[in-house]
Amino acid sequence: MVLSIFKCISCDKEYDIQEIRYCCECGDLLEVIHDLSQSLPSPNDWKKSLDNQMAVIAFRRYQALLFPSLPGNKIITLNEGDTPLYDVSHHFPHFSSIKLKHEGMNPTLSFKDRGMVSGISWANYLGCENVICASTGDTSAAMAAYAGSAPNMKGIVLLPKGKISPEQLAQPISFGAVTVGIETDFDGCMKLVQQLTEKHNIYLLNSMNSVRIEGQKAIGIETLHQLNWQVPDWFVIPVGNAGNISALGKGLRELFELGIIDKLPRLAGIQTEGASPLYESYQNCYSELVPKKAKPTKASAIQIGDPVSYKKAVRELKYFNGVVEAVTETELMDWKAQIDKLGISICPNSAVAVAGAMKLNENGIIKETEDVVVILTAHGSKFSNASVEYHGDESNPSANHTHTVSPNLEELESLLNL
Ligand code: F0G
Repeated sequence: MVLSIFKCISCDKEYDIQEIRYCCECGDLLEVIHDLSQSLPSPNDWKKSLDNQMAVIAFRRYQALLFPSLPGNKIITLNEGDTPLYDVSHHFPHFSSIKLKHEGMNPTLSFKDRGMVSGISWANYLGCENVICASTGDTSAAMAAYAGSAPNMKGIVLLPKGKISPEQLAQPISFGAVTVGIETDFDGCMKLVQQLTEKHNIYLLNSMNSVRIEGQKAIGIETLHQLNWQVPDWFVIPVGNAGNISALGKGLRELFELGIIDKLPRLAGIQTEGASPLYESYQNCYSELVPKKAKPTKASAIQIGDPVSYKKAVRELKYFNGVVEAVTETELMDWKAQIDKLGISICPNSAVAVAGAMKLNENGIIKETEDVVVILTAHGSKFSNASVEYHGDESNPSANHTHTVSPNLEELESLLNL
């Protein structure tokens, strides 16, 4: 019996998983479907067996649920996963509990490593020598690192010129990928990647490749394992191209269908006000997506106006009785500062989710009696300019300004009020 297939999310047409294929003949997105009754004959025994495997990398530990048809000897890993789940409830008593799943603690400092362990491993299994992605900076870093780690694989990254942070740019360059800046935005780079991969033998590794989504399912699964399978009331997640919220939903849905969890959480997808196509669609009862040029935002990784995984995201949001919220630049940067101050360094994109959770709580949508998990998607150190500008702004009352003194003890004592 076949273990995994591609299936169209619209017309249900099925394809062989061994085919290099990103979309259905009808033009819509594909999804990887596994026969989990084969890979996980007894879900409860599987659950028990996990606790003896904590020394095993997360992807291998959860592989029976993530991607059973990927041969173990083809896995390319950089020891991603096992990221911390910080309990910050004592700082925010207006939630029953609030925990932060810090995906910025992965090898390339973002959640993209979770998708690349499945994407690059599958490319390795298929024997692809060239891999490509468009990126707002994190997919490219992860793809370049994992391609560098694979035997005989060249990474090519297309980036919107001048729109990613210096730390993000440094990553693909140092990991040896062909790095191309293009005078356009993410959506423009994405179109070029699609055109290029239609014409040439280059494997596409954006999240429209459904194989990548399978690895990203691990974020939700690992969180629930850390919570001893006690399901929170909410998962809150930032949304750009909408791959991650789709992966979160698919993983949780599969856990529920297998009886590993007995309750469904709700999902909240959060965007910035200037880059909010999903939010606008949600406000109109998920009316058709209207792609728009996304406005510049401090959350530059989610400056996306035409999210590729829109339909998958809507499907998951409906299944999980989800909501979508949008936050302002001030809200996201102020919440970034609040979380950073706890010693948990987060990027502006993650701060979008934190700000969204706080806003939904203030509006009474997330109740004081509810448990919340917020997914942090990248580390603050990838976006240091955002912090330097925020704290360097003389007019900002929340800034932690730096001080300068001459090399003089009295001057220093006076500054420190000693
Ligand atoms: N947070 C960070 C740090 C990201 O890099 C991204 C996406 C997201 C959130 C949104 O996730 O797109 O799955 O909804 N970054 C992509 C990239 C677009 O190219 O690195 P999404």
